[in-house]
Amino acid sequence: MDTATLGQTNITVPALGIGAWSWGDRLFWDYGSSYGKAEVRQAFEGAIAAGATFFDTAEVYGPGTSEELLGEFMKTSDRPVQIATKYGPLPWRFSGSAVSEALTASLKRLQCDRVTLYQVHWPFTFFMSQETLLNTLADEVEKGRIEAIGVSNYDADGMRQAYDILARRGIPLAVNQVRYSLLSRQIEAENILATAKELGITLLAYSPLSQGLLTDKYRGDKTPQGARKLDRRFRDSGLKDIEPVLSIVRELAQKYSKTPAQVSLNWLMCQGNVIPIPGAKNDRQARENAGAMGWRLSAEEVNRFAELKIKN
Ligand SMILES: NC(=O)c1ccc[n+]([C@@H]2O[C@H](COP(=O)([O-])OP(=O)(O)OC[C@H]3O[C@@H](n4cnc5c(N)ncnc54)[C@H](OP(=O)(O)O)[C@@H]3O)[C@@H](O)[C@H]2O)c1
Repeated sequence: MDTATLGQTNITVPALGIGAWSWGDRLFWDYGSSYGKAEVRQAFEGAIAAGATFFDTAEVYGPGTSEELLGEFMKTSDRPVQIATKYGPLPWRFSGSAVSEALTASLKRLQCDRVTLYQVHWPFTFFMSQETLLNTLADEVEKGRIEAIGVSNYDADGMRQAYDILARRGIPLAVNQVRYSLLSRQIEAENILATAKELGITLLAYSPLSQGLLTDKYRGDKTPQGARKLDRRFRDSGLKDIEPVLSIVRELAQKYSKTPAQVSLNWLMCQGNVIPIPGAKNDRQARENAGAMGWRLSAEEVNRFAELKIKN
């Protein structure tokens, strides 16, 4: 089995996770129109059958619906799964008890008594200090309701600060979940990738398929559903910008008899401390994405993308 460790913890997960933002989200993804509960249930089951048993969700996805669906699906599955969810540092949450209450509500929707990973969704510090927030999460690790702590969308300095606060409690900061794909490589320039390597923090790469662009299916008159309709990257001019990357992806896909999505996800896994968490709306997408595990591009092939940085 192709696995990865969450930072300096002893928690092992599959080398690729499955993102569940689109499970129940109407606002961005248009859940309930072109796909619904039956399809995402099949995505859950297909992912598990293909060995992708680590799922990423958040209390704000749906809102609440993504966690509820996962909870319901887990009840009918006999295979063990690992769940990562997220806490939103929102304006009305200004004390440690609000963190614990949010976790209680997530566990209730997920119908379980602990999660593998609990992440702070954004680095907002106006309402509650990082000290209060992370120390409350450390208490939850000690209580056993969280196995590991992560942050999300933190810059290099914020990640180091969170790492230091938790280190004083003897708990490693396991992950920083950030946007990272062949088409979104800002974390390389912003020193996040290097800092994570230095501190032994795993990066969970979100939007690893650039919300579908790296599947190479958005060409000609095929347009995406939901909010992506307004995204310039899915129009002719945007698609032209990414062609240099896609042409290498296509070539490697042909060489390995894989798909462009699998090559793009594999490139992320080749970075060493990166776990991609692609979204999947149905059985086919879940199984295809899981097929990025179990093999690797060569170092030379990974290097072919080194200078091909697209601004978006
Ligand atoms: N922490 C954060 O702030 C944050 C932000 C964003 C996302 N996330 C997490 O990261 C996960 C993934 O990111 P994402 O959903 O934004 O983008 P993504 O994984 O790059 O793209 C997902 C979309 O691409 C299409 N797709 C996926 N696999 C495919 C396949 N094999 N073949 C064809 N099409 C495929 C599907 O949409 P269509 O079929 O409609 O094209 C799917 O909804 C989320 O579910 C969430 O868990 C976290």
